[in-house]
Amino acid sequence: MHGSGYTRDHLRIRAAFHREYAEQDVDFYAWVVDHVPWQGGEHVLDVGCGIGLYVPYYLRHTSHLVGVDISPAMLQTLRESVSFPGALLVARAEALPFPPNTFHVVFANHVLFFVDDVERALTEAHRVLRPGGWFVAATYTEESLAQVYRVHARALHRIGRMPTRARHLRFPLETGAEVVQRVFPSVQKDRLPNAFLFPSVEVAMRYYLSGPVREVVGPPLSPAEREALLAEVRTRIAREIHRHGVWRVSKDAGVILARKEEGVTIKGGDLEDEVGLDRRGL
Ligand SMILES: C[S@@+](CC[C@H](N)C(=O)[O-])C[C@H]1O[C@@H](n2cnc3c(N)ncnc32)[C@H](O)[C@@H]1O
Repeated sequence: MHGSGYTRDHLRIRAAFHREYAEQDVDFYAWVVDHVPWQGGEHVLDVGCGIGLYVPYYLRHTSHLVGVDISPAMLQTLRESVSFPGALLVARAEALPFPPNTFHVVFANHVLFFVDDVERALTEAHRVLRPGGWFVAATYTEESLAQVYRVHARALHRIGRMPTRARHLRFPLETGAEVVQRVFPSVQKDRLPNAFLFPSVEVAMRYYLSGPVREVVGPPLSPAEREALLAEVRTRIAREIHRHGVWRVSKDAGVILARKEEGVTIKGGDLEDEVGLDRRGL
């Protein structure tokens, strides 16, 4: 595990949950990728590409793809599972190994909340984009998964432990757009409401075990603590399902879309604003 703490299996399991238990039958990946005004044949960089869940959607528009991820294991799985036409490199979002003005589109989907220095990662994305190029970052909203984290926090308190702050709150749709605007002058955000409908305790527990269970301050849970925690969580979820027939967990997400200025060249990483653009925003 690197960077995110997610393994390849966690990503696979979570993607399957999004497909099977969503309230709205929307293809989120297509929705994100379709925000780019594609012409065809663009050079695309996917930062934190993971196991390549977005790759089939990029391939609808272009075969000029490059992926980077901090985790060699993720890239290995991508290579085994998807036919990827371009280069795959182990690299950090904060230090992209490409010259300035290389790509027409840079994606960073569900990644920036893991990155240590978000502003540095955004500056890097801006540097490697061509003038007029598009930056796309998919992320969650602040309210997303709140019900899961609430159950997790209350159950942890019962066993005398503390939850960490949900990771996506480091770069949610609401405030993430403001951070992107520090680097890109032109930023928009778009929200897609949706929810999980967990039909049984077993299904909800599988989701919980695929991620939120690990969000604990301090040392890893002892086997006894883990058993007590899972029992608490089960009870709380069972109560919800008994009351409502299903456990509804909002998972609103969205996309931040930004554009690099036209007429700006970057030499050796230093921005030279040739036309004196107003960088305060739209
Ligand atoms: C939740 S996954 C998202 C993967 C993919 N973008 C997707 O949406 O399916 C987060 C990915 O970011 C990678 N990651 C975490 N920190 C990173 C960093 N600083 N630089 C590059 N990749 C990073 C992780 O290894 C993981 O593959």
